[in-house]
Amino acid sequence: MAGLLLFSLLPLSVILLCVLHLRGRSFNQHKAVLNSLSLPPSTQTFAFFHPYCNAGGGGERVLWTAIAYIQRTRPEVLCVVYTGDVSATKSSILAKVESRFSITLSPATLHFVFLTRRVLVEDSTYPHFTLIGQSLGSVALVAEALSLFVPDAYMDTMGYAFTLPVVRLLGIPAAAYVHYPTVSPPMISRVTRRAKLIYYHAFMLLYALALRRARIIMVNSSWTKKHVDAVLAYPPFGGRWGIPRPRVVYPSCDTREMARLPLDGRERVILSIAQFRPEKDHAKQIRALHELLKEHPDYVQQGIQLVMIGGCRNADDEARVEVLRKLASDLGVEPHVRFILNAPFPDMLAWLRRASVGLNTMLDEHFGINVVEFMAAGVIPIVHASGGPLEDIVVEFQGQQTGYHATTPAEFASRIHEALSLAADEDLAIRQRARTWAVQRFSEAEFEAGWEASAWSKLLV
Ligand SMILES: *[C@@H]1O[C@H](CO)[C@@H](O)[C@H](O)[C@H]1NC(C)=O
Repeated sequence: MAGLLLFSLLPLSVILLCVLHLRGRSFNQHKAVLNSLSLPPSTQTFAFFHPYCNAGGGGERVLWTAIAYIQRTRPEVLCVVYTGDVSATKSSILAKVESRFSITLSPATLHFVFLTRRVLVEDSTYPHFTLIGQSLGSVALVAEALSLFVPDAYMDTMGYAFTLPVVRLLGIPAAAYVHYPTVSPPMISRVTRRAKLIYYHAFMLLYALALRRARIIMVNSSWTKKHVDAVLAYPPFGGRWGIPRPRVVYPSCDTREMARLPLDGRERVILSIAQFRPEKDHAKQIRALHELLKEHPDYVQQGIQLVMIGGCRNADDEARVEVLRKLASDLGVEPHVRFILNAPFPDMLAWLRRASVGLNTMLDEHFGINVVEFMAAGVIPIVHASGGPLEDIVVEFQGQQTGYHATTPAEFASRIHEALSLAADEDLAIRQRARTWAVQRFSEAEFEAGWEASAWSKLLV
């Protein structure tokens, strides 16, 4: 199997030779691009490999925030984006970035290189051996990218690690921002079929070697860092020297609307914001409410409410909501539970303004943007003691707590009671502290500081 993998790498060498050949052409292309933007010939170029740059998701927010930052602090650098959005144009992409993320980019120092072979990295292209298929596809795609434009420095922002060795072969310094590892040792620890296991291990070795070609690696959370660290340490040879050390640079969250909500005047509302997916474990929230009312029947008179706001994408999700309704009625807490499906943003904000506490019950959530939103909105978070909510978000700030952790329904119930029983001054203090922390930690300024600390600009000398 491993031999097969190595053999399949042969065509890569051929592609690489072609790329090398193309390098000779690059000088004129470079000049033409700089000319078309009226930039001096000495302009340095920093390229981002982001074939789905027009998708409007979290990964794209990172890309545009980084580019806006470079444009602001290093106006003499030209940013280049390799994208497969051939039906878009520079101005339509910039307009979308503006409307979707409220990020204004300058067209003067931004250039797009449109790639026609994005199909090579689509998972639907490879019904079998998807990992290896997409990875080889990304090598071919970056070959197209480099044949169109050779930059002074390169960064993969979409997780195509196999592009890094190709870029390095041309002598271009490379970096990566990793949102999610393609595979990692903890991920495959559950694979039991022998053939599959060998495939994964062989793939992981190649993945690790590719990723090690990056001079700088940034990751989007502690969870991702843990996995990327494990990948980088995976090859049993080669020593530790020169292996890049991943740095956590959290993506910024847009908390502006939430941070404007008043902190006081909160009602007996327990809020949950999560799609109705099984891993979110909404049932635990209903059980926690049941425990709470059993231990402290006073809350019944106070008309306490558990408000569950969530996206419902399909019939499966709807069926799950029905099961949850049934659970609430079986436990006799139905009058205190309210489901709000697919709430528009202003409705969600209105609940964030009324709620006292917010729940997150998912085990090992990688991040948990809803928890950041609770905190920014002044809602005291009570979260599952695992994953991002435990490690990255609901952590002490200035030596004091910003929320609560729990695991079982009974623990959730007692934390809810604790939070609802805080003296008025302490109640206000924890809301204020949680807001200050969340807004600052996941702000654009913090992202930029992390980006700067990564020494990205050293790639350009
Ligand atoms: C990191 O990226 C992954 C994959 O897109 C995502 O699930 C996770 O929420 C991200 N983490 C942060 C902190 O944004």
